Amino acid sequence: MPQIFTKSADTRLRAALLLVALAAVGAVLFIGGYMESSYATLIGWVRDQPVPFSHEHHVGGLGIDCRYCHTAVETSEHADLPPTHVCMTCHSQLWTGAPVLAPVRDSLATGRPIAWQRVARLPDYVYFNHAIHIDRGVPCVTCHGRIDRMPLTARAEPFQMRWCLDCHRDPAPRLRPPDQVTRMDWSEWDAHPERHALYGEMMIKVYGIEPAKLDDCDVCHR
Ligand code: HEC
Ligand code: HEC
Ligand code: HEC
Ligand code: HEC
Ligand code: HEC
Repeated sequence: MPQIFTKSADTRLRAALLLVALAAVGAVLFIGGYMESSYATLIGWVRDQPVPFSHEHHVGGLGIDCRYCHTAVETSEHADLPPTHVCMTCHSQLWTGAPVLAPVRDSLATGRPIAWQRVARLPDYVYFNHAIHIDRGVPCVTCHGRIDRMPLTARAEPFQMRWCLDCHRDPAPRLRPPDQVTRMDWSEWDAHPERHALYGEMMIKVYGIEPAKLDDCDVCHR
């Protein structure tokens, strides 16, 4: 039998196969890195807003409670963004002529809501519900970070499936008394971790939470 492949062709084939294998590994690493990167998770990104609304100023500085503006958060799926007349309870008297508030005045005059750019959003195929989390005492800060320190609103957590599941499989240590959910710096129990742990364990029973079922697909994909 004559030799079909020369020796050098064989070497070239091996080299080519090695390259394909390396490229495959590279692609896996690249996709993995992408999923972790802030580009995919959008953590820390701010968007151009029609009005540079500052939670740092209104929450951190003035001490306004989340529920004053996000009124539906305890009772519905959505927390909702505040309608313009909520801003005007103060800004019809304060900073009335400020150019930065012109879009707020326009919105009130025309009845068209301010076109806020969303920073915390899930894909449509995921079901989320604020009311149940608030009712069980999962604090805003756990999912939205230190909003009270944000001059412009940014996303604080990845909102990926794994992040949801990490808590659903072990929610006990994250629970607070529900009347403390909007507090950003709740530290009363920091010196007593055992008290917090005990509270969490107790409330899992009181609410009848079943972590083993909270990661079923149809909890979030309905
Ligand atoms: C309870 C009162 C109150 C409400 C409600 C309120 N603001 Fe303000 N806002 C203030 C005060 C007070 C200042 C001025 C703070 C200062 O000058 O130190 C301010 C300042 C601002 C500024 C100037 C930039 C800054 O942060 O200093 C913007 C923009 C603004 N508010 C937007 C809004 C929007 C939009 C809403 C509605 C979603 C809103 N505010 C609701 C009290 C309020
Ligand atoms: C004075 C009214 C006001 C108060 C009080 C307030 N917010 Fe907001 N919030 C807004 C407005 C207006 C927006 C839309 C503009 C923006 O993203 O900054 C917003 C946006 C947000 C967003 C981003 C939503 C999205 O998808 O774009 C989150 C998360 C949020 N607020 C959480 C909170 C939390 C948590 C608190 C309490 C610690 C709070 N807010 C208190 C007015 C308020
Ligand atoms: C368990 C995590 C979690 C907790 C706790 C939580 N949020 Fe959210 N929040 C989310 C997610 C996820 C979204 C995006 C929802 C979507 O796009 O369907 C969101 C969206 C929002 C929005 C945008 C408007 C909307 O309804 O989609 C606001 C405002 C907001 N949250 C405020 C709050 C406030 C205020 C609290 C505390 C009282 C709070 N959230 C507690 C996870 C949470
Ligand atoms: C820090 C903890 C925590 C995080 C993060 C969290 N959850 Fe939850 N979730 C809970 C708890 C506690 C409950 C209440 C379970 C119960 O009462 O049985 C719950 C309940 C739910 C329910 C209602 C289940 C039912 O039986 O009606 C849905 C839907 C849900 N979560 C979706 C999500 C999604 C989607 C995310 C991520 C974007 C998420 N959750 C992130 C703690 C969390
Ligand atoms: C606690 C809520 C929750 C549960 C339970 C859950 N998912 Fe998801 N899932 C999510 C969220 C949030 C996303 C969106 C992730 C993103 O945008 O990066 C997602 C995305 C997905 C996607 C799209 C691809 C991806 O990974 O981003 C698939 C497929 C999926 N889930 C399948 C499942 C299956 C199968 C189960 C059951 C074994 C399941 N999910 C259980 C919250 C959940």
